[in-house]
Amino acid sequence: MPHPERQRRLLYGRRKGPKLRGRQAELLDTLLPLLALKIEKNKNPREYFSTPVSEVWLEVGFGAGEHLHALAMAHPEVGLIGAEPFINGVAKLLSRIDSHTSSLSPAGGEGILGRIRLHAGDARDIIDALPDGSLGKVMILFPDPWPKTRHRKRRFIQSEMLDALARVMKPGAELRFATDDPGYLVWALERMIAHPQFQWTAKRAGDWRQRPADWPQTRYEAKAIRGQPSYFSFVRV
Ligand SMILES: C[S@@+](CC[C@H](N)C(=O)[O-])C[C@H]1O[C@@H](n2cnc3c(N)ncnc32)[C@H](O)[C@@H]1O
Repeated sequence: MPHPERQRRLLYGRRKGPKLRGRQAELLDTLLPLLALKIEKNKNPREYFSTPVSEVWLEVGFGAGEHLHALAMAHPEVGLIGAEPFINGVAKLLSRIDSHTSSLSPAGGEGILGRIRLHAGDARDIIDALPDGSLGKVMILFPDPWPKTRHRKRRFIQSEMLDALARVMKPGAELRFATDDPGYLVWALERMIAHPQFQWTAKRAGDWRQRPADWPQTRYEAKAIRGQPSYFSFVRV
């Protein structure tokens, strides 16, 4: 039986890709410490930001961060927390933030540094520490599909995880989920529909076939290697 902590860590895949060099390596040493989320139990997440924010959104597994960055640019009133254990992805997001902060405009420059906090690790560390009803939106976009039956316990969406998310989300908060994996689609929908605290917002059949206009495309989605992407929006009731 693996040690419980080790078992917990098994959820995600690799943490490191090719060795980082140059500017990206530098940003891990210089910019990441400025944006790193210092997780504190029961801290109101609005207090993690140096710029005042009216609500806080969480992106689980932001990959290369293009979605998180686009949201931060589009919503100056929101604080964004991103979790991603794959350090090369974190470095890509830092690069993106860095290239946009050189202009230091109040909307997209300095302001963005005060409104993004990153955890180069497991999103569950953040969720476990958050107080009840403290998030306005949670996004889980193209989570690792873990298609083999014996690996399904590694999928991020589990009934227990939905309980944890329901706890930390405000009533009316949105849970966004996308996948291009038909097996994960069925798995996640079964659990989300069965959950008493989440309600699917789809009005017609085609709703989940099209990415909503305010939902920036992610890098993984652009490749959509497993099949047609599906998009789900649930509300915490
Ligand atoms: C298939 S990729 C998709 C990345 C991105 N959302 C996109 O659409 O381009 C899934 C990502 O989830 C991350 N991930 C897996 N488990 C995680 C966890 N427990 N907490 C945070 N991120 C996780 C992986 O490292 C990986 O980068």
